[in-house]
Amino acid sequence: MKATVVREYPALLPEDDDHPYRTGAWRPQRREWDASDLTVLEGEIPRDLNGVYLRNTENPLLPALGRYHPFDGDGMLHAITFEDGRASYRNRMVQTSGLAAELEAGAPLWAGILESPQKSQRDGHGARTRMKDASSTDVIVHRGEALSTFYQCGECYRSDPRTLEQRGPQSWGGRLPSEWGISAHPKLDENTGELLIFNYSKKAPFMNYGVVSASGELDHYVPIELPGPRLPHDMAFSERFAILNDLPLFWDPALLAKGAHRARFYQDIPSRFGVIPRRGRAEELRWFEASPTYVLHWINAFDDGDSLVLDGYFQHKPMPEHRPDDGPWSVMHRSISIRDFQSRPHRWRFDLRTGRCTEEQLDEEFTEFPMVHGRYVGKRHRYFVTMTNEPGWFLFNGLVRMDAEGTNKQRWQFARGVYASESPIAPKTGKTDELDAYVVTFVTDMNADRSECQIFDLAAIDRGPIARVLLPERISSGTHSTWVPLEDLSPAGGPVP
Ligand SMILES: [Fe+2]
Repeated sequence: MKATVVREYPALLPEDDDHPYRTGAWRPQRREWDASDLTVLEGEIPRDLNGVYLRNTENPLLPALGRYHPFDGDGMLHAITFEDGRASYRNRMVQTSGLAAELEAGAPLWAGILESPQKSQRDGHGARTRMKDASSTDVIVHRGEALSTFYQCGECYRSDPRTLEQRGPQSWGGRLPSEWGISAHPKLDENTGELLIFNYSKKAPFMNYGVVSASGELDHYVPIELPGPRLPHDMAFSERFAILNDLPLFWDPALLAKGAHRARFYQDIPSRFGVIPRRGRAEELRWFEASPTYVLHWINAFDDGDSLVLDGYFQHKPMPEHRPDDGPWSVMHRSISIRDFQSRPHRWRFDLRTGRCTEEQLDEEFTEFPMVHGRYVGKRHRYFVTMTNEPGWFLFNGLVRMDAEGTNKQRWQFARGVYASESPIAPKTGKTDELDAYVVTFVTDMNADRSECQIFDLAAIDRGPIARVLLPERISSGTHSTWVPLEDLSPAGGPVP
């Protein structure tokens, strides 16, 4: 492996840091690397694996104002490119305006999600307002550009998916109102080249939905009127419809009126799903009601005759309870532990003739962070890859290949102390069948103090990795990721097959 440090950031975090999500598997990096001819520790990189695996990571460079929450951390992108049996890797901080301001000040300027926005020393971004837009939640590639986003809404930061060259925010010619920004989880339709976006806010109409065309124009943008401020995290789409949501987990309105942001789960208020034709007008939106829950991530949606099917993760216990023996980090730990959410794959079926919704659980096991084959997003899928979680932690300790037909579930459990990442499906070059694909994941190995990218055969996940590729440095655990085939990165193109 040839590896070079191209930038090293100053050490600004406390030397004796004991924050559980700035140490161990979540220890942030300060170095940006360019590495090529990566060492293959085991197996062989398949020659029909050609594309880029991109992952975003919460990677704080400065201490917090008050308490630090792991989702406040500054975005760091990791990109491993596979081409003709070889691999190269780069990582770069997302050069947000907030990070630049804090590095210049040499101190934090914005309070995070665990503190009152009033503590921030400057105005900022986010549905909550006065937050630093860390651009650390999600990453997706549209029209050959990586777009990183923040779950509380903010700018949409652009970079080159292979070099991670930073290109600043995307506002689609100013058509995306800067005071709203964009939520994490904009959705790419690889089959049309369109990008579907949403945002949310404390001000009416509380949500907007938009479509960026395959030629890069934000040419559809409509209000989604909600009863009040909500905390949506994700959206879904089928070939015909976009699906927004109004779920009964939101800031307590009475406390919000006094300036306090306390999220509560209202177990007597139904979940509501807003179904709108992909380019529909606001008045074409139809609401469907279902049992109360909160959903962090949708798996996929597809049209089925007069029905619309939506798969996602139903949380049986959306809010952590406070306990008398709680330590300083206990509630924060439980609030991001997938097992504590008790999230299971679930199917909602919306009958477009009657306006009724029926529901069924798809699997018993607590999992989350699902990935569907990119060409099947918006269409009927059979398989998805999802993650199991270390008890009490936001750390992925296993991969599960789920089968919507319920007969062909497979899994791989990582060794103790080895944590994976959200693991996208990487189709074999030139193949379109759903199982003709690999699964890629970054691994943080606390035993060997190193990181790897591991490659699995989607058809046989239970055989373990078919190749293990060494990274130059141990990387932090993070949240979202994506796979983009090299054939989708043509300069003029965009991901239209
Ligand atoms: Fe997410």
